[in-house]
Amino acid sequence: MNMQATLVSQDIIDRCPCLKDSSYKDEASKLISLNAPASSDWDLHKIMAVYRICFHFRKLEEDKPAQPDKAFAKILDDVTHYLKAAIETMPPYLYPSQQDETDKVEDVTADHYGNLFSYFNDEKYYEEPSELLGQRLERNGFDLSWLNGKSVLDAGCGNGRYTYALSNLGASKVTGLDMSKTNIADAEKRLSGRPREGVSYQLGSVLDMPFKDGEFDFVFSNGVLHHTTDLDKGLEELVRVMKPEGRGFLMLINDPGGIKWDMIEICRELLRDVPYRYAHDIFLKLNMPTHLRFLYLDHILVPINIRLSAKQISDKLASYGATDIERLERGADVDEFEKFENYADKEILWGSGIHRFLFSKK
Ligand SMILES: C[S@@+](CC[C@H](N)C(=O)[O-])C[C@H]1O[C@@H](n2cnc3c(N)ncnc32)[C@H](O)[C@@H]1O
Repeated sequence: MNMQATLVSQDIIDRCPCLKDSSYKDEASKLISLNAPASSDWDLHKIMAVYRICFHFRKLEEDKPAQPDKAFAKILDDVTHYLKAAIETMPPYLYPSQQDETDKVEDVTADHYGNLFSYFNDEKYYEEPSELLGQRLERNGFDLSWLNGKSVLDAGCGNGRYTYALSNLGASKVTGLDMSKTNIADAEKRLSGRPREGVSYQLGSVLDMPFKDGEFDFVFSNGVLHHTTDLDKGLEELVRVMKPEGRGFLMLINDPGGIKWDMIEICRELLRDVPYRYAHDIFLKLNMPTHLRFLYLDHILVPINIRLSAKQISDKLASYGATDIERLERGADVDEFEKFENYADKEILWGSGIHRFLFSKK
């Protein structure tokens, strides 16, 4: 008998394809199909289950076992046992789940990243991003001196860690654009702590940029458009505001995604009906380590998380007028494929690896 058909509905399989076509589909289906009596702290238990999955998955990434899919199946199985026991044995918690004030995608996304990014410490903010970005560009043959004196847009700048880095790398004018008021306020506060000439921030949408055609020499967007309501419009805008002969950098999450993105999709499904604010507060109360929140909650708690293949991205870029589109095959020291170059099962674990592209425009 087809177990998936009996356990989970087609719309769940559509959101979580590993329930149908992975070697751990049975374990994943059993976990996703668990249910609990209405009176139990079901939301809380699911949050704890996601914390466990993140914690053990991080260990799996660090251990890099042979056959990581088997190790992942065991994690799913263990968490299923944990959840079953939790439902039956844990007394009610005194911090009940509450509905969010808004479920508008843009508001929840802005709130989510406002919360997440305020936790960057000074070292992770002012110095490290310049080094990471410098490595990602230089190792792929980009001459950093090209940035000298250039005007740059950081589209979806968050709290400005790469905006600041692009200025460190030589750009004379860098504008950070983001729709999160919290992030823009944080970026401005950090800038006033260590002022840099030519850096400024603006509140606004990357889907309708407040800039003229061809305003920037270099357009940069790192990890943003896959969280928006209209990824295509974002790409079109990015190319529109780039000067002819200008250059662009785009980072988007990947398909194929390997176990890593299956894990994220399973966790997203577990928390699908859990109010965002409640989940966020509980993860904080559980003192979930900052690196786990950055690595995984970034994508688990955000409303939209679109993954595309390299070909889909480069076709889309080309359709909006980008030229010389090149996927970057090298990364910074900390990037998965750079760090674990010799790990035989890296594609099983991480799929194609994060997509980073450079492009131009005639
Ligand atoms: C994963 S964060 C990346 C931030 C930054 N690029 C970095 O790498 O640190 C995504 C950012 O995109 C912003 N964002 C999402 N949708 C947006 C939109 N439509 N317009 C502007 N910013 C948006 C969020 O507020 C958030 O700061």
